[in-house]
Amino acid sequence: MRKKIVAGNWKMNMDYNEGLALFSEILNMIKDEVTGQQQAVVCSPFIHLHSLAQLAKGYDKVAIGAQNAHQNESGAFTGETSAKMIKSTGAAYVILGHSERRQYFGENNELLAKKTDTVLANGLKPIFCIGETLEEREAEKHFDVIKTQLAEGLYHLSAEQFGQVVIAYEPVWAIGTGKTATSDQAQEIHAFIRAELTAKYGLEVADDTTILYGGSANPKNAPELFAQPDIDGGLIGGASLKSRDFLDIVKVFN
Ligand code: 13P
Repeated sequence: MRKKIVAGNWKMNMDYNEGLALFSEILNMIKDEVTGQQQAVVCSPFIHLHSLAQLAKGYDKVAIGAQNAHQNESGAFTGETSAKMIKSTGAAYVILGHSERRQYFGENNELLAKKTDTVLANGLKPIFCIGETLEEREAEKHFDVIKTQLAEGLYHLSAEQFGQVVIAYEPVWAIGTGKTATSDQAQEIHAFIRAELTAKYGLEVADDTTILYGGSANPKNAPELFAQPDIDGGLIGGASLKSRDFLDIVKVFN
């Protein structure tokens, strides 16, 4: 059975103290309210990682993640953060290839393939984001875009390495717009992703892969989205900044 995951992406929000306060609320609620087997992951800015990982000790339903990592192991890359550094904080996951990184920081599939290697080599799990823009969907290129992002970003991995990867489908037109993909639209792409993974890595690996949906997910629409057979949870932006909303999404799997 593949893992159900609800991951919060705080993006560039929350100063140090605000982040700790939010996370403490989340932990208290998880302790009292989460009864299922799902995993909650909080992907914070780098400055919070170590403190959150310390607070999360003993909570097996919560893991911590970063939102980016550099492709090199170490060196003269002023302002960057390595996968080894992230691992040393106690974090377990790293979001890679978020559309905001692709759009504003010029990250392409080739670079993301390298980042994936470095993240895996350091014992971290990538949450690898893929998804089409509005233009691409309107031109009916969304399947091609997804296929290329998967192939160029991930298909150099062995099946064993791929087993560590979580996929997040985030249609760019649904991010921060309040415009969610319908559950049918999301399920269609998730099923396509799983079929592609089956062709590349075989049925067992594809069946075990957690595929998250992201893009204006909230406590109201999450139950219908997560009821789809190929949607294994969510990558949550705005709603992850409110402890009540985030927990209500995590609890869809209770
Ligand atoms: P929103 O949930 O704010 O639309 O953001 C989605 C997202 O980008 C998560 O990575």
